[in-house]
Amino acid sequence: MNAPNRGGSCGPLTEIPTEITLQTDPVLLAKLHEACTEEPWDASAMARLLGLPETVAFIAARGAEPCGLVLTRRAGEDCEILTIGVKPAMRIQGVGAGLLNTACDWGLRIGACRLVLEVAADNHPALRLYEKCGFEGCGHRPGYYPGLYAGIPKIDALILQKPLGRRRLGHGPD
Ligand SMILES: CC(C)(COP(=O)(O)OP(=O)(O)OC[C@H]1O[C@@H](n2cnc3c(N)ncnc32)[C@H](O)[C@@H]1OP(=O)(O)O)[C@@H](O)C(=O)NCCC(=O)NCCS
Repeated sequence: MNAPNRGGSCGPLTEIPTEITLQTDPVLLAKLHEACTEEPWDASAMARLLGLPETVAFIAARGAEPCGLVLTRRAGEDCEILTIGVKPAMRIQGVGAGLLNTACDWGLRIGACRLVLEVAADNHPALRLYEKCGFEGCGHRPGYYPGLYAGIPKIDALILQKPLGRRRLGHGPD
């Protein structure tokens, strides 16, 4: 599936064309995840995840260069964002919003009721992105992320959701 780089529910994006496509190669995904996030998953972890039912990955690329990724998994009536990341040099240019738009489209396509994710309460760039894309808080896990060093407090996790505006098939009217 190729997803066009539309503003969609997250508003207009930049003029630079971004191609977003499904990706199944765990080695490529692990390399990209390492370039985009501070806690990379290796290729075997990626392969395990992609082996789960209804788990998919999309990558964003500008020209030949992959610059971001999002992994989603169906969890009951939800479509869960497992990870999302953009290469540091490509941030604040609409790539993250494009990936989230694609995850929304995917969630609708598989009949999910909402998109859900978990984010550290101090991850301000991610919170800004999610707010812009219409996510709202629906849960709170105090001290969920361990402090990395002595004296550094644990960080809360926030659970966010974005209703997708449609009931799952077989569970009431659309
Ligand atoms: C979170 C992340 C994916 C955002 O990707 P991105 O491509 O920079 O996001 P976008 O360019 O689409 O930005 C969306 C909005 O958030 C804002 N934003 C993003 N990063 C920001 C920052 N560092 N400071 C202020 N605003 C920021 C953008 O300005 C934009 O809002 P606007 O249109 O009103 O200006 C990226 O910062 C990242 O990969 N971080 C590391 C991995 C991570 O934390 N993932 C999330 C785990 S839950």
